[in-house]
Amino acid sequence: MDFRDMYKGKLSTADEAVKLIKSGDTVVFASAAGEPPALIDAMVANKKNYRNVTISHMFNVGKCEYALPENSEYFNVRCWFAASGTRKAINEGRAEFVPVFFYQVPQYMRSGIFNVDVLMVMVSPPDEKGYCSASLTSDYIIEAAKQAKVILAEVNDRMPYVYGDTLIHISEIDKIVETSHPIPELAPAVIGEAETAIGKHCASLVEDGSTLQLGIGAIPDAVMAQLKGKKHLGIHSEMISSGIVDLYESGAIDGSEKSIDKGKLVGTFIMGDKKLYDFVDHNPVVLLKAVDYVNHPIVIAQNAKMVSINACLQVDFLGQVVSDTIGTKQFSGVGGQVDFFRGAGMSLDGLGKSIIAMTSTATLKSGEKVSKIVPYIDHGAAVTTSRHDVDYIVTEYGIAQMKGKSLKERARELINVSHPDFKNDLIKEYVNRFNSEF
Ligand code: COA
Repeated sequence: MDFRDMYKGKLSTADEAVKLIKSGDTVVFASAAGEPPALIDAMVANKKNYRNVTISHMFNVGKCEYALPENSEYFNVRCWFAASGTRKAINEGRAEFVPVFFYQVPQYMRSGIFNVDVLMVMVSPPDEKGYCSASLTSDYIIEAAKQAKVILAEVNDRMPYVYGDTLIHISEIDKIVETSHPIPELAPAVIGEAETAIGKHCASLVEDGSTLQLGIGAIPDAVMAQLKGKKHLGIHSEMISSGIVDLYESGAIDGSEKSIDKGKLVGTFIMGDKKLYDFVDHNPVVLLKAVDYVNHPIVIAQNAKMVSINACLQVDFLGQVVSDTIGTKQFSGVGGQVDFFRGAGMSLDGLGKSIIAMTSTATLKSGEKVSKIVPYIDHGAAVTTSRHDVDYIVTEYGIAQMKGKSLKERARELINVSHPDFKNDLIKEYVNRFNSEF
């Protein structure tokens, strides 16, 4: 059958489409900007027809009404990342948090550790061969599509068409819901003096010809702002963000010295502003690949001069990095942090660098300022990146380097880049703990 006829035959309202979800099913969504809001809203509106539907996803940006207390008799939420919509439900015990390295999600789906009965995804309109592009999130989508018994797709005519492991053919989809709504955008990050100083320190570690992974937020954006004078940079990054477009347009990124996927901007999901979404649309330079390729440490390790830059919440004297919990509370998830730390750490050319970049202090809701460099991690906190994987830790006060350093040397390096208001107390802790002069 011609795919155009197939398309017409599968057209549905969102309310009709979500009737294919059955009690007891596990429903997986595309993450981040690939979330299909019309389908999710319809699923929540149809809740009275479900019992025991499990919802699973990675980073999410939507309203997450399925995680509200009044919906817990219909939906079980099992997240692989805590974000603003699910954090409260996880920490109040209504939702489950499942720790998993991002690169392993497709593998867990293949092996049945993660169940996928229904996939809900937002895609671009089909191309002339009948393929829709899952556009802004490749990550686990293609594997989830293989495993799912039912695929519900929101075809949003504003979704860009991105090349790579993104294509879902109309024949694979069970119900198509046409929508036309703006794609979620990330507000531009506020870059202050501290972030600018961090950006400069990080940029000093990036050599021309490096391949970069950068995360989300003010610090990665501040780093990119300081990289405009570099040459022949490449991108192999979990996320492709708006800052990458500016850096590409400045000429600093050309991918010419990449050892794999030469010349391509490689990512597993895309999130930023409208300019970014226009840039990636039908752009042969942009390659969105599945997360078990992009984030696999063995693939990352093949990149020349791989530099990974991520953020954290707390670092202790040993160099143990806490990035996804605040004390006993689950704040986010490991995402790809350890995937990239390990990949850069095992780089085949021996020139990889893993950087944790953070402001030296955090301001709590109470207004109290706390040091992110601490003698001991908070009670109940989980180590995200171990002291064996850690390498550079950058604050606005400089660069601490961990690999090859003893425990005392690590602590001294870290105290040297701590905030002046906390330095004396940290030195006292050092003297007590190590029974040594600072
Ligand atoms: N103690 C208590 N609270 C702290 C804290 C500390 N040591 N450090 C930070 N916080 C609070 C902040 O005050 C802020 O609170 P608010 O939400 O009320 O404003 C909150 O935690 C977030 O801190 P912030 O520094 O603004 O975080 P961020 O948005 O820059 O994100 C991470 C930082 C570490 C949470 C984020 O990078 C992450 O989730 N990383 C793990 C995943 C990852 O690295 N993926 C990489 C590939 S994209």
